[in-house]
Amino acid sequence: MKAISCQELSWKYSGRKRFAVENVNLDIEENTFVSIVGPNEHGKTTLVSCIKGLIPANYHGIWYGKVEIFGEDNRNITGQKMASEVGYVFADPESQFTSMTVEEELVFGLENIGLPFQVVHDRLEWVSEITLIKELWDKSPYEISGGQKQRVAIASVLAMKPRIMILDEPTSMLDPIGKDSIFDIMTNVKNETKMTIIVVEHNIEQIAPLSDQILLMYEGQIAKMAPPEEFFNNSDFLVDHGILPPQATAFVDRLKQDGFYDGVLPVDYEGGVKATRQVLQRHTA
Ligand SMILES: Nc1ncnc2c1ncn2[C@@H]1O[C@H](COP(=O)(O)OP(=O)(O)OP(=O)(O)O)[C@@H](O)[C@H]1O
Ligand SMILES: [Mg+2]
Repeated sequence: MKAISCQELSWKYSGRKRFAVENVNLDIEENTFVSIVGPNEHGKTTLVSCIKGLIPANYHGIWYGKVEIFGEDNRNITGQKMASEVGYVFADPESQFTSMTVEEELVFGLENIGLPFQVVHDRLEWVSEITLIKELWDKSPYEISGGQKQRVAIASVLAMKPRIMILDEPTSMLDPIGKDSIFDIMTNVKNETKMTIIVVEHNIEQIAPLSDQILLMYEGQIAKMAPPEEFFNNSDFLVDHGILPPQATAFVDRLKQDGFYDGVLPVDYEGGVKATRQVLQRHTA
């Protein structure tokens, strides 16, 4: 089933000359992991805001087209239903905090949707494990590290068990160790749930191996959308659109262009080693 369908979707912020998102047609199947990449100011945040319904609800502008969430026009979905269907994690985690302790922060949304005590308890245990925040429960969400804040923000959205989870640059404000832990969490969520996950991310190296599909936003339009092996198959096109492929991909693509390799392009280190082995075997035989 389609989790998300955008049909000829366009949005122009009021006062702007150009459309930030222009004539986007996009289908995302449920239980897939889609990463959105592209240079700054090319419409990534605007697109995910339209999917979540933050646009047009909270902004002035011009909207054309339609977004469907599991077949339903998202402008007809109530706020409460939207909260449990589509989770949204902002780049700046503090912007979503409302409580004095991490525990309250997690419980808040769950109590709002009226879940029984035992379910709330089980959900808290589950998200705390997946996001490694158990030791933070009684801390203030404002007085923990940046990486911990982002883990709490993800946990509070995950606790709602939305069918779709959107993360807009969840690692952009973190140091390398903090970034790694967010990629670990995204890996856990991908493996343990059937959620449809959409991540806007600049770190191609780390997001590519997790992705079922990579979507390139350029000048408000979808310039390319494909599974990773296919997405990276034209380095020149990507570089022209401000994207650098993962190192392993770029290296093997070079071997391919020089006629040493004709297989599928790898997207991570392990794949790179395998492809390089094939090249060595063939050329030393
Ligand atoms: N609230 C707003 N009001 C007016 N224009 C906006 C607003 N938010 C974004 N824009 C404009 O819309 C276009 C797309 O911006 P958007 O934030 O969607 O890009 P992005 O790809 O998410 O960029 P980044 O990588 O910097 O987060 C840009 O030209 C931007 O200046
Ligand atoms: Mg953005």
